[in-house]
Amino acid sequence: MKIAVINFSGNVGKSTVARHLLLPRIQGAELIAIESLNADEAQGQALRGRQYGELQEYLQTVASVVVDIGASNVEELLGQMQRYRGSHEDFDGFVVPTVSALKQQQDTIATLIELGRIGVPASRLKLVFNMVEDGVTVAQAFAPLLAFVQQQPVAQANLSCRLGVNEIYGRIKGSKADLQTLVNDATDYKALIAQAKGTTEKVAWAQKLATRRLASGVVPELDACFAALELNK
Ligand SMILES: Nc1ncnc2c1ncn2[C@@H]1O[C@H](COP(=O)(O)OP(=O)(O)O)[C@@H](O)[C@H]1O
Ligand SMILES: [Mg+2]
Repeated sequence: MKIAVINFSGNVGKSTVARHLLLPRIQGAELIAIESLNADEAQGQALRGRQYGELQEYLQTVASVVVDIGASNVEELLGQMQRYRGSHEDFDGFVVPTVSALKQQQDTIATLIELGRIGVPASRLKLVFNMVEDGVTVAQAFAPLLAFVQQQPVAQANLSCRLGVNEIYGRIKGSKADLQTLVNDATDYKALIAQAKGTTEKVAWAQKLATRRLASGVVPELDACFAALELNK
């Protein structure tokens, strides 16, 4: 399965969705990060937007891939996709993460329109509602975007494709940590805390324990969101 994660907007969770929602749930998939302005964001193999020809060749050689398209490259990439007519068909799906800030919803609408224009069918274009606050429904928070999709059905908007705000993503940023690996970590942190000599050491173990707890809470949410995406359909 080959999935592109895309949005004109930065900071909507493209890299988070690529790495923590999609990559662990697509068997054998590798992550390709198309280089963005923010160099330290790039993870996995970096590819410039203008090297689209190379990306296309590469896509023919792998079975499963998640391509994280940095915001600064989206327009360039769409231009290239248009020039290489039909090349969007290399992707089984386009996942578009979005957040509720109005500017981001507007950018998301523009992204959907552009992808539709180059020929991506609505059945392959799927929204992920990200950073949903506790006590707020997707329907409320994303009313403008949902109204657009209802009027112009260019994408799939399943309200169950949602991820709540969770500090775990910030905590493990920059580390190579995989959430399921954190959940599976069988270390007895309580015992380590009890044996620890000083406060600093206790706090260090306590942080590891907290991270594992957060990971345990978030993995089922990611599983549910992934299932709701129905990328196999
Ligand atoms: N569901 C979430 N809850 C909390 N923080 C999140 C969530 N999704 C993303 N983030 C954080 O928001 C920031 C932007 O996310 P990122 O995935 O880098 O966005 P993009 O790749 O679209 O620029 C990062 O610091 C990331 O850790
Ligand atoms: Mg990113």
